[in-house]
Amino acid sequence: MQLSFYIKTFGCQMNERDSGIISQSLSQHNYVETNNIDFADLIILNTCSIRAKAEQKVMSLLGYLRKNKKRNPELKICVAGCVAQQAGASIIERMPHVNLVVGTQHIYDIPRLLLKSNSRNRVATALSDSYVIPRLIPDDKSNYQSEEQDEGISFRKFVTIMQGCNNYCTYCVVPYTRGREVSRKVIDILDEVKVLVHSGVKEITLLGQNVNSYGLTNTVSDNSSPYSFADLLKEVSKVKGLERLRFTTSNPKDLSENLMKRFLDLDNLCPQFHLPVQSGSDRVLKLMNRKYTAEKYLDLVNSLRHYCPEIALTTDIIVGFPGETDDDFSKTMGLLETVQFDGSFSFKYSDRPGTASAKFENKIPEEIKSERLAIFQNRQNEISLKRNSNYIGCNVKVMVEAQDGESFKCRATTNHVVHVMSNNVLIPGETIEVLIYHAGHHSLKGKAIGE
Ligand code: 5AD
Ligand code: SF4
Repeated sequence: MQLSFYIKTFGCQMNERDSGIISQSLSQHNYVETNNIDFADLIILNTCSIRAKAEQKVMSLLGYLRKNKKRNPELKICVAGCVAQQAGASIIERMPHVNLVVGTQHIYDIPRLLLKSNSRNRVATALSDSYVIPRLIPDDKSNYQSEEQDEGISFRKFVTIMQGCNNYCTYCVVPYTRGREVSRKVIDILDEVKVLVHSGVKEITLLGQNVNSYGLTNTVSDNSSPYSFADLLKEVSKVKGLERLRFTTSNPKDLSENLMKRFLDLDNLCPQFHLPVQSGSDRVLKLMNRKYTAEKYLDLVNSLRHYCPEIALTTDIIVGFPGETDDDFSKTMGLLETVQFDGSFSFKYSDRPGTASAKFENKIPEEIKSERLAIFQNRQNEISLKRNSNYIGCNVKVMVEAQDGESFKCRATTNHVVHVMSNNVLIPGETIEVLIYHAGHHSLKGKAIGE
């Protein structure tokens, strides 16, 4: 008998990619995916613990699912991902309706673990003992290749090039939930990209917590890779038929000149860069263990704009880091004024279990964090609108993603979402040229040229 499963993904693109792998392996084990949580035989929550709010969302959905379990005692509930990795033991204690708790390094094992968790609600767990164990990507490529990936839009896919992080920024839980950095082999990455492009994928985003240190750390089954991230990008970009190439995320401390120069010579590398700065104050950056200064960051921005003048820059910001003074915060605002980011993701600092900063003194009161966040976001919104307005009157090439009511949701190479009015039916995956006639804070509007 076939069983149905429902996956809810929280958090980053890495989790989205992991959910794709979970779907794929369950589909090979007699499960079919459903998008109706209430009728599923198996519910998987692939969780995120990067900030307190993300974890609260998981916990409240888990609480809500108690009633699904009451209605259907055969239902299996699985908690996977970062919250499982960090809070596994307490989930088992507090949530007797959960059948399976699977850490970030064991998602490939879910079908086997499901057999272990029987209907009397015995809990099966697979958590790594400590963060020093690297997450190993199976060498068996059948577990990894993506012909049957069907998460999200079919012509845009993520390819993981490395896992984990060695940086230990003091606020960040990732080194504890995802383990130490491990780079995948170049050949495996290229094989996966080729399979995807051959099956119709047009846009690939290379994923890693810190892609700039690709190959510097150990590689699965080798001890090192002679390839830097800049070399890898060049190889991937040569895959025939790949129209758009992106990557995320970069730590400024490892951003090399060679990588920036790739914008000069790789035609399909999209002019977009997400470069998290976190703070504009050198004092706070030091407390965060970021290993660069605001000045160094501004130099990088200038170089990126030198090599690729049309590049769209985005960043991450944390406000209210322990000990952040008004003066520190004004330096963050100053950096925003200098850089004029196209967009940013900004967060109130939250303590994460096991991190160094959770033990720091001088925690900032919630009201001050909220106030600083609002000031930052208001100014960023104004800047985004101003920068987006520069596109009005320009012809821009966009890839069609999906119909969205009366218009079509499309994406520019700069990663801007463009809503396009067209009299014709636009096919997802096709590239068309549009004239931009309106700019909003978070998106643009365009009209197909020649209609
Ligand atoms: N509190 C607030 N924001 C955080 N981030 C990571 N950890 C924390 C934390 N403890 C933010 C950083 C990072 C993004 C993914 O999440 O800005 O770049
Ligand atoms: Fe976290 Fe820092 Fe690693 Fe990014 S570089 S994942 S913020 S520890």
